[in-house]
Amino acid sequence: MSDKIGIGLLGLGTVGSGIIHILEHHKKELMAKTGAADVDIRRVLVRDLEKQRDGHVNRDLYTTRAEEVLEDPNIDLVVEVMGGVEEARQYIEKALKNRKHIVTANKDLMALHGDELLALADRQNCELLYEASVAGGIPILRSLTEGLASDRITKMIGIVNGTTNYMLTKMTQEELSYDEALQQAQELGFAESDPTADVEGLDAARKMVILARLGFYASVQLDEVHLKGMTAVTAEDIAFGQQLGYTLKLIGLAERNEEGVEVSVEPVFIPDSHPLASVHDEYNAVYVYGEAVGETMFYGPGAGSLPTATAVVSDVVSVIRQIRLGTAKAEVNLSADEETVLKKDEDIYAKYFIRLHAHDVAGAFKKITSVFTSNKVSFEKLIQLPLDSTDLAEVAMVTHETSRSSLEKISDDLASLDVVETVKSRYRVEGGEVDVPEQRDLALV
Ligand SMILES: NC(=O)c1ccc[n+]([C@@H]2O[C@H](COP(=O)([O-])OP(=O)(O)OC[C@H]3O[C@@H](n4cnc5c(N)ncnc54)[C@H](OP(=O)(O)O)[C@@H]3O)[C@@H](O)[C@H]2O)c1
Repeated sequence: MSDKIGIGLLGLGTVGSGIIHILEHHKKELMAKTGAADVDIRRVLVRDLEKQRDGHVNRDLYTTRAEEVLEDPNIDLVVEVMGGVEEARQYIEKALKNRKHIVTANKDLMALHGDELLALADRQNCELLYEASVAGGIPILRSLTEGLASDRITKMIGIVNGTTNYMLTKMTQEELSYDEALQQAQELGFAESDPTADVEGLDAARKMVILARLGFYASVQLDEVHLKGMTAVTAEDIAFGQQLGYTLKLIGLAERNEEGVEVSVEPVFIPDSHPLASVHDEYNAVYVYGEAVGETMFYGPGAGSLPTATAVVSDVVSVIRQIRLGTAKAEVNLSADEETVLKKDEDIYAKYFIRLHAHDVAGAFKKITSVFTSNKVSFEKLIQLPLDSTDLAEVAMVTHETSRSSLEKISDDLASLDVVETVKSRYRVEGGEVDVPEQRDLALV
């Protein structure tokens, strides 16, 4: 095998130009880590041949014809950083059929078609690595498949979307409204002009599907993720949570036990003392529970040209090592468990924060508490504040653990009480106990 490894790049945008930068600037380290193999970019697929680009890539290598990358016998490894789903899928399939190894940063593709592409890579004895597809620069996938390979992962909770974490940080620390936080994120380039995939939680859901596959060998489809975005989050919810000792984060959660697997993305209250509560701005973090190791946390930049390119090039190094050892194959194709059983709502237990507006009248408290008693759920924290110039009071409480189905019933029962004006919001609570700020007595009697 030649010491020159031929690389074909599909895309030369934000991540692609970061890859070129790292290959240029870390050449010595890369040579050492790959056992002196040199990497050679041999073709670069772009859309626009005339566009001015960063980095020193010989313009003669640019092509708009994908076959010139996918069918070139001098290319050993195809790096897909063009994004999108359908074209990227077709190109990767073609490259695999031509026995080329693949590194991709494409979470949309890997969440939707990961199982089939990994199976194809396996059949073709090719590598297909995708570290950059989850949490950008954080080496979370390799940590699951290598660092924690000996353990049994039971739960992963993560902040895996930088846009929403930036917005929630600003809403919490600077009391910005949702719209103000979104505008600021867009001005700074942390949010796209169409932020739907981020704020609706879809981007995070894609990453959690990938994490569940690697952490649990579970085949969870995107539409099986319990999904709630952050568009309905208000400054009031955040402020009430803070008074109870919690910080609101958009959390991706994947958990398994005897009942099955659950994957969700939703705004969740985390105790202020929990490490995830101090993950601010556009940063990402994934908290992993393993049966043997206990709790570990992986933290870092979840996106950006160089952080993401670091993950891509690390995958490239890994593939090159396998090529040189003659052991290349899709070793992280830990074939997803065909029999993945999803937990039912009655088996998904959590604490919940519930905020409501109640009429400040005699007997209101008793009626509210009777809903919890009749549903056999107690609550562990509660605050109440009068609302200015109304007969209403704002009540926020945190329940003890209850099932998701029971929460639905409690919400419906509360909403039907004559003393309850509206159930304003409810959020899952994760991350253990909090140091409770002084608990206020309920004024409703
Ligand atoms: N940006 C991040 O921080 C980040 C983080 C993690 C993962 N990712 C993933 O990495 C991938 C790339 O993201 P990016 O931010 O680098 O995207 P980008 O800046 O938009 O770059 C995309 C590149 O692909 C080329 N391209 C796109 N469609 C093409 C097509 N049909 N034919 C030929 N060339 C095509 C574009 O060519 P032109 O330059 O000629 O337009 C451009 O060079 C995506 O899957 C993304 O989800 C990105």
